[in-house]
Amino acid sequence: MNVDIGNALASVASPGVSRASLERLDEQVAAAHERIERGMANADHGYEALNLPERTDPDEIRAAVEPVADADTLITVGIGGSSLGAATIVDALESDTETVFLDNVDPEWVSGRLDGLALENAAINVVSRSGTTAETLANFLVVREAFEDAGVDWTERTIVTTGESGPLRDLADRHDLPSLKVPDGVPGRFSALSAVGMVAAAVCGHDLEALLAGAAAERETLSGSLFDCPAYAYGATTYALDGRGAGVNAMMPYAESLETSAEWFAQLWAESLGKDDLGQTPVRALGVTDQHSQLQLYRAGPRDKLVTFVTADADADRSIPTTDVEELAYLGDATLGELLEAEFEATEASLAAAGRPNVRVELEAVDEYELGGFLYGMEAACVLAGELYGVNTFEQPAVEWAKKATRGLLGGGEFEEAKAVAEKTELR
Ligand code: PA5
Repeated sequence: MNVDIGNALASVASPGVSRASLERLDEQVAAAHERIERGMANADHGYEALNLPERTDPDEIRAAVEPVADADTLITVGIGGSSLGAATIVDALESDTETVFLDNVDPEWVSGRLDGLALENAAINVVSRSGTTAETLANFLVVREAFEDAGVDWTERTIVTTGESGPLRDLADRHDLPSLKVPDGVPGRFSALSAVGMVAAAVCGHDLEALLAGAAAERETLSGSLFDCPAYAYGATTYALDGRGAGVNAMMPYAESLETSAEWFAQLWAESLGKDDLGQTPVRALGVTDQHSQLQLYRAGPRDKLVTFVTADADADRSIPTTDVEELAYLGDATLGELLEAEFEATEASLAAAGRPNVRVELEAVDEYELGGFLYGMEAACVLAGELYGVNTFEQPAVEWAKKATRGLLGGGEFEEAKAVAEKTELR
């Protein structure tokens, strides 16, 4: 992963960050890097996620998915960090296995996703670190019933990834389901490079070793200076820009296959850094589609945004057919890939010309190695940004509050949070 921050510098953008202030910030980066390295060495909660390239065992994952490796369709049931990492990987890469992700519990949508699926050739990948998340467990029970209705033994077609204990672990044990453990010390949104994200990748036949090798290569770049480390350059620059008014960070990949990666990034950034009245608001955009909507705001709206472009060299292209309409002749000389590239260059230049900060994150290809590097790099950037903000990157009390309130409202336990909701509702 390469990161180009040239268009975020104060000499070209407003808000922008000067080279001199980045040099001053680098002292804080060095101190933060020491804390990160220490956390990794001690396998401390959260920091342990940055050890996953060495800790994750692809053979263990492949052995666990063996009973369902022949699936034509893989239904992943999970939400947030228990879904988006896997979705980012499998949506980016080609596979003959159809993938369905069930995170939301909108009944019409869930039924629509399941209707018409040939369940006899399908498998269920249920993922929940806590094993208590209402959405995941409810959707799992719904999918299980759909298998039963179709006369398919779901116990033969399910793989579970969860923590050491909890209701989902109990269920897996009771039915003797193949299962994997979410590694200790790895919060959901940092778990893409563990079994949480890689079971789906394994069933889809992707190269797990290459994913981890890409991540390991990125890990090698972590150093005490933002000028030597692409991930830290990104984390430090976004932090500095936020402090100068760029409170919104729009991630805009220029590849349809990377659209889900912007969703994953939005979760990582929001849930990790949105604390103590701090944090940038992540926005999801897609090139070229959002050139025809959001770009107007990014170039001419309030100066409160950073645009993060993600580019990747495509390995497929398609020529644009020629036509006898003279005004369209220029298209006939090009390919769709060249058009995409020109659109990106034009958008990047148009923001730079208007003095709007933007950063380019470059991948050499959309493949396992580069994706592993991207996932790891953005996680490391986020951990660094969390250190600079001084927030607890690895907790998510607001998310937990709502989870408990939901369970309590449905009678799933005595929770103060549910009482608070009931009181508020009465006030209306
Ligand atoms: O990053 C996080 O901690 C969250 O987004 C969780 O992944 C999400 O709430 C799902 O939790 P669980 O894996 O416990 O079902």
